[in-house]
Amino acid sequence: MFITFEGPEGAGKTTAIGMISNQLRDRGESVVVTREPGSGELGAKIREILLHGNGMPPESELFLFLADRANHVATVILPALDRREIVLCDRYADSTLVYQSLVRGLDEDFVRHANRFATGDLQPELTFLLDIDPVVGLARLKSKDRMDREPIEFHQKVRDGFLALAMAEPDRWRVLDASMSSELIVAAFFDWYDNERAGQRAFEFSS
Ligand code: TYD
Repeated sequence: MFITFEGPEGAGKTTAIGMISNQLRDRGESVVVTREPGSGELGAKIREILLHGNGMPPESELFLFLADRANHVATVILPALDRREIVLCDRYADSTLVYQSLVRGLDEDFVRHANRFATGDLQPELTFLLDIDPVVGLARLKSKDRMDREPIEFHQKVRDGFLALAMAEPDRWRVLDASMSSELIVAAFFDWYDNERAGQRAFEFSS
């Protein structure tokens, strides 16, 4: 099961994913928690260039995120899915579509195509959007990287971009109000998860 979490800065994805993974493990599930950019040795190097270097052309940014994603899919996500583990991923291809295309302005068709190329078309079954007003989200951050330091208009566009993607593909997305407590966000996850599991069991039983 492959589930991604997306949202503007400071939405609390990391905290929510930590709580969800603990509860899943308490239930006996095998869970892999991972994030982009920055998984593995290559990912860590790419993350350093992307978030702590100086500015760069949006085209360079795009290819670095894609290079990280291709490596992440091949070395972490696919092997975990093959082992039938639950993969909870903090940001994935939708972030590229929002940040590099809808916000930075790179051609949307090209970015969609490039995402498919980098991932071998691996798509999450479900994506949670932790939606938050960027003024509130940015105020929550303890330290700021290169992207966080972009002007507020940039972050507003990020929020609008995610909401637009969620509206365009409502079956895959669940939009959660990230100003609510982490406990409520976790409860919303398990509402979906328990339903999904019940559906799977009913299917296995009838076939
Ligand atoms: P990170 O420190 O992981 O922040 P967060 O906790 O908000 O996920 O920083 C990742 C930054 O990189 C974040 O600002 C979003 C941005 N990003 C892109 O621009 N494109 C992408 O494809 C991905 C995965 C992230």
